[in-house]
Amino acid sequence: MKIMVVGSGGREHALVWKISQSKRVTKIYAAPGNGGMKDLAELVDIKASNTVELADFAQEENIDLTVVGPEMSLALGIVDEFRRRNLKIFGPTQKAATIESSKVFAKEFMRKNSIPTAGFQVFDSSLEAINYIRSASFPLVVKADGLAGGKGVFVCRNFEEAEESIRVIMLESKFGQSGEQVVIEEFLEGREMSFMAVSDGKRAIPLITSMDYKRAFENDQGPNTGGMGAISPAPQINTNLFDNIMKTIIYPAIEGLKFEGKEFRGVLYAGLMITKTGPYVLEFNVRFGDPEVQPVLLRMESDIVDLLEGAAEGNLFDIPVEWDQNVSGCVVLASKGYPLKYETGKKINGLERAKAMGVEIFHAGTQMKGGGYYTSGGRILNVCATASSLEEAMKKIYDAISFVSFDNMTFRQDIGRKSK
Ligand code: AMP
Ligand code: GLY
Repeated sequence: MKIMVVGSGGREHALVWKISQSKRVTKIYAAPGNGGMKDLAELVDIKASNTVELADFAQEENIDLTVVGPEMSLALGIVDEFRRRNLKIFGPTQKAATIESSKVFAKEFMRKNSIPTAGFQVFDSSLEAINYIRSASFPLVVKADGLAGGKGVFVCRNFEEAEESIRVIMLESKFGQSGEQVVIEEFLEGREMSFMAVSDGKRAIPLITSMDYKRAFENDQGPNTGGMGAISPAPQINTNLFDNIMKTIIYPAIEGLKFEGKEFRGVLYAGLMITKTGPYVLEFNVRFGDPEVQPVLLRMESDIVDLLEGAAEGNLFDIPVEWDQNVSGCVVLASKGYPLKYETGKKINGLERAKAMGVEIFHAGTQMKGGGYYTSGGRILNVCATASSLEEAMKKIYDAISFVSFDNMTFRQDIGRKSK
């Protein structure tokens, strides 16, 4: 079987790594991929946003299954393009992907389907939004409607912060069209968790839980990022909560989308706040969480290809998924300044010695030049490991990190060591 993975981050490297363990797979392509994948996959020089060219390539090479990493490709309709040509692909259609690409749609969908989420109001005028916050209680949360790379959400402690967020999103158009509408929602208190389930449109198979660390700096300070680390399982999970999430969130979402003619095939990822009164949805995503999927895949014992193919074909019936009972963690090594401004082109040292410490290192913003790796983005490397205790897993990871260096390297020292 030939499989193509679309995307170039740590998530996609972890997918390529896991897919490469399948006995069913003879060849893996990654488009565009990254330097870290080159021993496992043939890199294809097509951007993840170039959906037509990707479909042409899949057709020419007789690729049996394409797996999509980034939300942008899904929002651009890559699945629709592939399906039109009868090419098998894992991921939701453009219509179904709206549950991530429009927060306004997602919130209204949740309200309609009685899925627990924070109370909210939608505005398409900045004047009305600012008027509303004059009499609102704080803290509250201002969110740009569309995709903003995880940066379009502002938790505001007072009127001034909220006004500034509305200004940045709607008047300065920092996120372009994504900021034509804003959602203003109630602030929820609790602990966050990432919950992913693979669906074929009718059934849903949950993955084990995880938790990411979104803030840039230790003790959850600094700006929100795509994620600076993750652990699996989420510390607050138990059987009751797990069942409750499936019953009140995942199944109603899959059924509700099907009812609206947006049948969802792919991975539905609910970003949750576990409050005193139960789990609430902060957001839905339509792809694997990054970095969360990395520690999750480290614990997957089953063949992931069966799962991905079953979902793509609308036939997830009877696919058992086995998990390693160990726990796992992941720490992101980033360029200083991420998620704002950062420098690139720095030589990365010590990767081999770090790997010899029994960790997996998934690449994100790296580039191979003349036999060495150089930085080419904000999040550079993901160092991951499993062990019988979280302490042990994190020790393995941090010990391995001590061998890695590049100019302006930064990472959080507290992943897994405290709960959010
Ligand atoms: P989102 O992209 O919607 O998941 O939001 C990014 C981050 O903002 C979340 O991971 C939370 O830390 C925070 N957040 C979003 N919505 C809320 C909310 N209603 N209450 C408290 N924190 C929130
Ligand atoms: N780590 C958060 C995300 O993938 O959206």
